Amino acid sequence: MSEKKHRSTDWFGKEGKDGFIYRAWMKNQGFPPDEFDGKPVIGICNTWSELTPCNAHLRDLAEAVKRGIWEAGGLPLEFPVMSLGETLIRPTAMLYRNLVSMDVEESIRANPLDGVVLMCGCDKTTPSLVMGACSVDIPSIVVSGGPMLTGKFKGEDIGTTDVWRFAEEYKVGALNREEFRAAEGALCRSAGHCAVMGTASTMASMVESLGLSLPGNAAIPAVDARRKVLAHRSGRRIVEMVDEELTPSAILSRDAFVNAVKVNAAIGGSTNFIVHLMAIARRIGAPLELDDFDRYGSEVPLLVNLKPSGEYHMEEFYYAGGLPAVIAELEEYLNSDIVTANGKTLADNNRGAPCYNRDVIASVDDPFQEEAGITVVRGNLCPEGAVIKTSAASEELLQHRGPAVVFENIEDYHARIDDPDLEVDEDSVLVLKYVGPKGYPGMAEVGNMGLPRKILDRGVKDMVRISDGRMSGTAYGTAFLHVAPESYAGGNLALVQNGDMIEVDVKNKRLHLDVPEKVLEQRRADWNPPVHDFDRGYVRLYIDHVEQAHLGADMDFLVGSSGGEVKRESH
Ligand code: FES
Ligand code: MG
Repeated sequence: MSEKKHRSTDWFGKEGKDGFIYRAWMKNQGFPPDEFDGKPVIGICNTWSELTPCNAHLRDLAEAVKRGIWEAGGLPLEFPVMSLGETLIRPTAMLYRNLVSMDVEESIRANPLDGVVLMCGCDKTTPSLVMGACSVDIPSIVVSGGPMLTGKFKGEDIGTTDVWRFAEEYKVGALNREEFRAAEGALCRSAGHCAVMGTASTMASMVESLGLSLPGNAAIPAVDARRKVLAHRSGRRIVEMVDEELTPSAILSRDAFVNAVKVNAAIGGSTNFIVHLMAIARRIGAPLELDDFDRYGSEVPLLVNLKPSGEYHMEEFYYAGGLPAVIAELEEYLNSDIVTANGKTLADNNRGAPCYNRDVIASVDDPFQEEAGITVVRGNLCPEGAVIKTSAASEELLQHRGPAVVFENIEDYHARIDDPDLEVDEDSVLVLKYVGPKGYPGMAEVGNMGLPRKILDRGVKDMVRISDGRMSGTAYGTAFLHVAPESYAGGNLALVQNGDMIEVDVKNKRLHLDVPEKVLEQRRADWNPPVHDFDRGYVRLYIDHVEQAHLGADMDFLVGSSGGEVKRESH
């Protein structure tokens, strides 16, 4: 045990009435008195919830973390925070990411904690916990819950990406009702989060490449015993991190963020990565801008063959070598001297990590694509930028000019998209308004809106789509996303009308609305934002303070950190 005075000593080491209160009530949990003699106190910040199915096993996994903490001489204290599940929460879990980050930040700061283990899994549970921890900046390590086992249905491997296919097949009678129901159980047959390279796997890879977790965190299946070993080791390690004062700000340099951008390109990670990484960078104060995702990501080859763009699932990714094998391949691309949670550099942790299956993880000499990553486009439709995941788009649509078919909001889209009288053909550009941070509110994952039925019936599989929303990490298509400023904030997207010509030129990073500025000026003068019916509560606060997508869609007053000090006693 360290002789150093810990943050928690300011609570448990106190004499008199205050110290009595801090210790006495903890003793109702049966802790012997010497637990409060200066041991590092480690919080386990848990997003376990039966309403977040992807994280429902995290109570159990926390026991493995605790074993490691006890073993290393720490005192583990587990606490819950609001948990965000993608599947049940309406209108979109993203609306609450910033709220959870506030819960996490204040829970850590207000309590006698010296270090914290962040337990997350489903999409938003990772960025919300990391953002909150960054704004306190005491030693922190992430333990992800891990992906589900690969789904098996009718002799085929399946994952979240197949949900949309099953729904289409059921609609046209290729699957009957019983088969459709059976597919549900076949898809989600074990604990864990989505088993494709969707947002949850992207986030687990992000923390591993940033150095906020132990190596190997991203891919070990949730139910593989080695996930518990990683949790156990993370418990041991956080106690040492407290002694070493290895805080998030000591790990999260600009170089660490640039590394994460490159790794994300190599794994074909979700576009949601952008808004989450930007928000984390702005909490910790590392300089990062939207163009960095293009600048550093686009030179990186695509090294993994995982759905939604490729063929395999996370389980096969783990067996093939997981993220360490990818990072080892990328050595020449990465800043190699970045310290990580285990005290070693990213390069030292991963050098020589083996690849066991070149169908799943390619070498840099023979990649699945020469250039991966995300392209940032600009133009009068998106002066602050919009993004497109080119690996998930159709090559022939990356250069395109076509007339806009405009949906004024998501209800308008649902009401008209399958209307046989909708004036649309495959050259049309589908434009969806008011699905951004303020507009939806919460920047929903509707940006890869489904194509009109009559176009699908002709066998067309992709069209250009533009919105201020996001796209599910499990989806694909030629979708321009995260348009900033968003339509609700008065961006030109709000002014687009049916038939306006739109020019797309990804090579030259351009997205242009071909309408004279004079006409746009007139439309702007006639424009009023739609009226929201949220006049109170968190959602009102969110709408008033959320920043635009290119800044990470955090709330303006949450950017930055307040440190871990609390001067006043409670009694
Ligand atoms: Fe939780 Fe996909 S629904 S990760
Ligand atoms: Mg998702």
